[in-house]
Amino acid sequence: MGIIGAGPAGLLLSRMLAVQGIESVVLENRSRDYVEARIRAGILEQHTVDTLREVGMGARLDREGLEHDGIYLQYPGTRHKLDFPELCGRNVWIYGQSEVVKDLIAAQLDDGPPLLFEVSDVQPRDVDTDSPSIAFTDADGVAQVLECDVVAGTDGFHGVSRPIVTAATDGQLWERTYPFAWLGILADVAPSTDDLIYAWHPDGFAMHSMRSPSVSRLYIQVDPTEKIEDWSDDRIWEALATRMALPGWELQTGPVTEKSILPMRSFVSSPMRHGRLFLAGDAAHIVPPTGAKGLNLAVADVTLLARALVRLLAEKETDLADAYSDKALARVWRCTHFSWWMTSMLHTHGDDFDAQLQLSQLQRVCTSEAAARELAEMYTGLPVAL
Ligand code: APR
Ligand code: PHB
Repeated sequence: MGIIGAGPAGLLLSRMLAVQGIESVVLENRSRDYVEARIRAGILEQHTVDTLREVGMGARLDREGLEHDGIYLQYPGTRHKLDFPELCGRNVWIYGQSEVVKDLIAAQLDDGPPLLFEVSDVQPRDVDTDSPSIAFTDADGVAQVLECDVVAGTDGFHGVSRPIVTAATDGQLWERTYPFAWLGILADVAPSTDDLIYAWHPDGFAMHSMRSPSVSRLYIQVDPTEKIEDWSDDRIWEALATRMALPGWELQTGPVTEKSILPMRSFVSSPMRHGRLFLAGDAAHIVPPTGAKGLNLAVADVTLLARALVRLLAEKETDLADAYSDKALARVWRCTHFSWWMTSMLHTHGDDFDAQLQLSQLQRVCTSEAAARELAEMYTGLPVAL
């Protein structure tokens, strides 16, 4: 297997295949430091945690991950807890994506298959034959060719793999760019809440997440054209306090260690395979962060893909490889809908008519067990049906 990209998708795929006796090489164009330092979302669904444990990646997650039994949904005057175990029998964990990536890289470099950082000019070749290869330049500047049976395109949204699949299959792309962005901060302050808060407010969405008992992660909705320089720490804390205000509750502030503005988009590319090139994770789809689905979808993709590749390479049967794209895309579209729905319900947009619809929907989720259960099932993640 040749695997392009050492994000969570590529690293986990390599590990899952190694457990099944299939060799791989992972090619990454960035440095180890860069890959490990990228700050991204931090919610792991139940199936993601189960999968990481199954491949021996659960030790630090079980020690340091924070198990959560629900979230708060808020609109002015109301903060309502959705109790996930009661609603659907599953939980979620807070454990930063960068921690998942660090664990996978450490294991890979310790006793796993080869992982090459800082390669360049990566180019999959002959993927419509039974003997594809990947041409690349290694970190020392030497041109190399990796001969393989299958290529995995786990190279993220800006990678080289998706354009090859799209061009060869006359594939389809669907995209929605939202008229808002998230301004996110990391702060050295204990979380002011036991569970995540998703808050609707006329000024815009706000959210309180965390990374550890002493580090908070918070977000506010801003216009995508906003400049981060115009947002002093005080201005951010003030907006957060206003949007999440509740009588008797106070937001604790602390030193901000990171801040950035993240655009929000939904994107789906179909099919997720051409010949012996298979796409997984952000290479094939992007969701806005509101539903916390990005990493979890990548894990679901590679769970399906690893099973299909073992069947193809070890058992010489093509059925699961042929079914991979359709099966993966069914879950992708379900999660795309959920992420779009959460985003649309919680972010200020449109006119006052839209605001009333949002509030009506939030009240429904906070008062109807059926509506709450649907959110809980989707948020904690559907089981991956192999
Ligand atoms: N050659 C080699 N590596 C590449 C190339 C290339 N041409 N292009 C991109 N890459 C690498 C990137 O540097 C990155 O490390 O591929 C990796 C892709 O990783 P991610 O972007 O993290 O994507 P994925 O593994 O699918 O993980 C999905 O990441 O973006 C988040 O929210 C998203 O949580 C989700 C997760
Ligand atoms: C995060 O902790 O970064 C986070 C949590 C939940 C989300 C998005 C981001 O929906």
